[in-house]
Amino acid sequence: MSSKLIAPSLLAADFANLQRDIEMVNESEADWFHIDIMDGVFVPNISYGMPVLKAITAYTKKTVDVHLMIVDPDRYIKTFADLGSNILTVHYEACTHLHRTLQAIKAEGMKAGVALNPHTNINVLEDVINDIDIVLIMSVNPGFGGQSFIENTYFKTKQLKDLITRKGASTKIEIDGGVTNKNAKKLVDAGADILVAGSYVFKNSNQPETIKDLKAVANS
Ligand code: DX5
Ligand code: ZN
Repeated sequence: MSSKLIAPSLLAADFANLQRDIEMVNESEADWFHIDIMDGVFVPNISYGMPVLKAITAYTKKTVDVHLMIVDPDRYIKTFADLGSNILTVHYEACTHLHRTLQAIKAEGMKAGVALNPHTNINVLEDVINDIDIVLIMSVNPGFGGQSFIENTYFKTKQLKDLITRKGASTKIEIDGGVTNKNAKKLVDAGADILVAGSYVFKNSNQPETIKDLKAVANS
């Protein structure tokens, strides 16, 4: 039984054919839908908002993994729960009271995730790791798909895995940005549990096969 999960990022989908691309993911071996919400303030880009997420969740048959790249995410926790999010990930750099935010996400019945920018050391999570369901390590600077993978991510993933083990936490590790079949195995060997892949999946001509191969490599 495979245990490492693949989460295609819809940011790289064809927005004029969103239903078609969602159905492709539904029928594929993908495990989660990764959905990037950007506000143009926390990151220098705006992706899509609530009406689009509502349209997406009407068709998704898999776990809805929402990655918020927005300032002050506390304002929208209930909204994202009501829209059908299963996992809500906020950025460490966007939360003044991270512990409170995590409790609020769980109180709405969602799994709570924390994302770290490439410059943020994993040690900042030391006192809160047991409260986090998923840590998302950004392996590119957040804001855009199609960027090059940052090599320091392997080291950072190992550091995080050590922290989780040392604290006896059950936190899962998700990697987001520049993931391909070339770095998937090394990421899993470093401790990754979930791999997000946007361009690598959607810019490929045979998308279901690409997802299947990536999953096979991650579980090899
Ligand atoms: C970037 C987003 C990623 C992005 C990944 O800010 O968080 O989820 O869609 O895209 P690729 O896989 O193309 O780097
Ligand atoms: Zn993302």
